[in-house]
Amino acid sequence: MHDEWLMTDAERATLHSLLTTLKPQCAIEVGVYKAGSLAILAAHSRKVYALDKDPACESAYASRFPNVEFITGLSQNTLPRLIDRIQASGEALEFVLIDADHSVEGVCRDINNILRYRPHRPLYLIMHDSFNPECRGAIMQTDWSSNPHVHMVELDFVVGRFVTKEEGDSYRQMWCGFALGILLPEKRPGDVILHENESLTYQSALRHSIYRFHRWWNPFYSVPQAANRARRTAARILRTHAPQLFESLNARHKKNV
Ligand SMILES: C[S@@+](CC[C@H](N)C(=O)[O-])C[C@H]1O[C@@H](n2cnc3c(N)ncnc32)[C@H](O)[C@@H]1O
Repeated sequence: MHDEWLMTDAERATLHSLLTTLKPQCAIEVGVYKAGSLAILAAHSRKVYALDKDPACESAYASRFPNVEFITGLSQNTLPRLIDRIQASGEALEFVLIDADHSVEGVCRDINNILRYRPHRPLYLIMHDSFNPECRGAIMQTDWSSNPHVHMVELDFVVGRFVTKEEGDSYRQMWCGFALGILLPEKRPGDVILHENESLTYQSALRHSIYRFHRWWNPFYSVPQAANRARRTAARILRTHAPQLFESLNARHKKNV
């Protein structure tokens, strides 16, 4: 954890093995920082788009990676334009790594912008920091079903870490972890499958973390997050007990969006 690549050994090994197998024609990284993960993406992909709000990324690393196009700006502005461009050009987007704005709104926005894409090759979407409660909440509250090509999402593809006392200010914070979303060219037959393979590990860590007071009765708890959770629960109950009403409300909602 002490070099310029902000990922655990398990994440590095996973990224390496995924990319050497997939060899993407086209990949996107949102959040470059000091190009730790970008170096591995660039080594195994034909073309990489590297997005960061910090102009220093392009000036520091452009000459090192000839197959990387740097795009400077806030991802909320740059990512939708890039997705439209890739879709129109017919390039096969096969790999995306999201690791930029870690707020609930930021993570949701980046994921939703990727979900605009309709794949013609399998697309692997890695979301870093799925062990962090805000990022995890954002991944869970994303409306994955809005893209008919999403087949499954695994929140704990690689488990994150509980920061130790030796690491000072961040003691008892929860960071890292890879969530994985898989999009396929064919449309999914049923609902999106949302796995949480290490939910017990996550819940146990949460109880001992600095986030343990993030509850609905805490005035600092994010209200949109609580509201979204309530909305998801209501939708689940409706779908189970009144499927026709669910379908008609869902169709009306999609028409209005
Ligand atoms: C955690 S670092 C990325 C680490 C890198 N992926 C690695 O593993 O070495 C996050 C990066 O995202 C960038 N960032 C944060 N918010 C952003 C936004 N809204 N749009 C674009 N880049 C953003 C920051 O400038 C920073 O370089």
